[in-house]
Amino acid sequence: MIECDISFARKYITEQDFDAAKKNARQGSQLIKSGDGPGTEWLGWRDILSDPNDAEIEEISTLAAQIREQADIFIVCGIGGSYLGAKAVIEALSPHFGADGPEIIYAGHHMGGKYLSQLLSYLKEKKKDGSHKSIYLNVISKSGSTLETALSFRMIRPLLEEMYEEEASERIICTTGKEGGVLNKLIEDKGYRKFIIPDNVGGRFSVLTPVGLLPIAVAGHDIRTLFYGAVGAFNRYEENPEPVIEYAALRHAMYRKGKTIDVISSFEPELKSFGGWIQQLLGESEGKEGKGIFPAVATYSTDLHSLGQFIQQGSRSLMETFITVKLPTSKLTVNELVENGDKLNYLSGKHFHQVNAKAREGTIEAHSSGDVPVVKICLHALNEENIGELIYFYELLTGIYVYSIGVNPFDQPGVEDYKKAMYRLLGKENQGT
Ligand code: PA5
Repeated sequence: MIECDISFARKYITEQDFDAAKKNARQGSQLIKSGDGPGTEWLGWRDILSDPNDAEIEEISTLAAQIREQADIFIVCGIGGSYLGAKAVIEALSPHFGADGPEIIYAGHHMGGKYLSQLLSYLKEKKKDGSHKSIYLNVISKSGSTLETALSFRMIRPLLEEMYEEEASERIICTTGKEGGVLNKLIEDKGYRKFIIPDNVGGRFSVLTPVGLLPIAVAGHDIRTLFYGAVGAFNRYEENPEPVIEYAALRHAMYRKGKTIDVISSFEPELKSFGGWIQQLLGESEGKEGKGIFPAVATYSTDLHSLGQFIQQGSRSLMETFITVKLPTSKLTVNELVENGDKLNYLSGKHFHQVNAKAREGTIEAHSSGDVPVVKICLHALNEENIGELIYFYELLTGIYVYSIGVNPFDQPGVEDYKKAMYRLLGKENQGT
């Protein structure tokens, strides 16, 4: 269960401005439902929830269980929408230290040579008994040609072939578009296992397809509950989209008032990468035609000691969205020390969750009084079901809100510009991306 509380921010906008923004948001919601808006061919993130593919969820869960039994390392090789969702969910739900199952390693999300060369050395290192590490590689690319991902795959693939010979093809799992592209040709030639990303689901909306589901399942999380958490949210908002429409309207009204930065904040460090997923989802969807609110991510209380000053008193172009968790994420309490040299016994016996919650309440109070409109999105508990719900909530919000500001939420024409320039500078013959 998640709740969206916009009451703290409402005072910044008049009834009239809110009503006008709500009208636009309702139109946005209507376009999502009718499929009559621009980018209508990208609404598959809704279809997968209205008609769940249980057989695929089962197939992924079974494969993930096998990999969990056999693998020391599982490499998620992808960039942007092809890895951010998986990373967000895995970090939200996994223990910070000593998770059981294979070590999850990300690759293909940049072209840093130091990272890749160290990764290759790490993969090559033998175990204490002299045997090879058991490595599985999931390369994820809808286009099959994104340079960052393709280059990492090109460097890691021969290593697996050398280590496992014919068995390498069973250890390489490709998640890609149905047909076309160089990756599909390699799959055909080498016999790699393949999962399909539906044509009508764009990268940043693809976490609930095999793109996110396989890595999340390999990390040991219940993807069926995650998926059905999203299905529950889908059904609820189909019946009553009002909470999402209100938040979309608020964001729109804030934008009109000059709030051009939304700081997505959390007091739970395990939600940091979830902020990164939201950042891409909103940023790549709304930042076009000279419009949009720039999504930033902050993790508190850490970033109160770096960004806090700016948020409290810097240029007043900020709004802030707190992602909070109601039920404690741990039972840890503050210890009692007889000598009390640090004078912290006044906190003894208190749960860290309570201390953190007070820091959060204090921060919301301070930022609100510093003229930062605050929205609170509260998850009842940090579990698969609620995370699934939060994923759909943000996908729907993105669709409705971005339509409401008159932008197509589902394309990313600007991303092509850096690719074109990069390919020209790299001397690629056919400079198509
Ligand atoms: O949201 C998007 O479409 C992008 O972020 C893509 O996911 C990203 O560019 C990776 O593309 P691909 O999966 O084709 O390698």
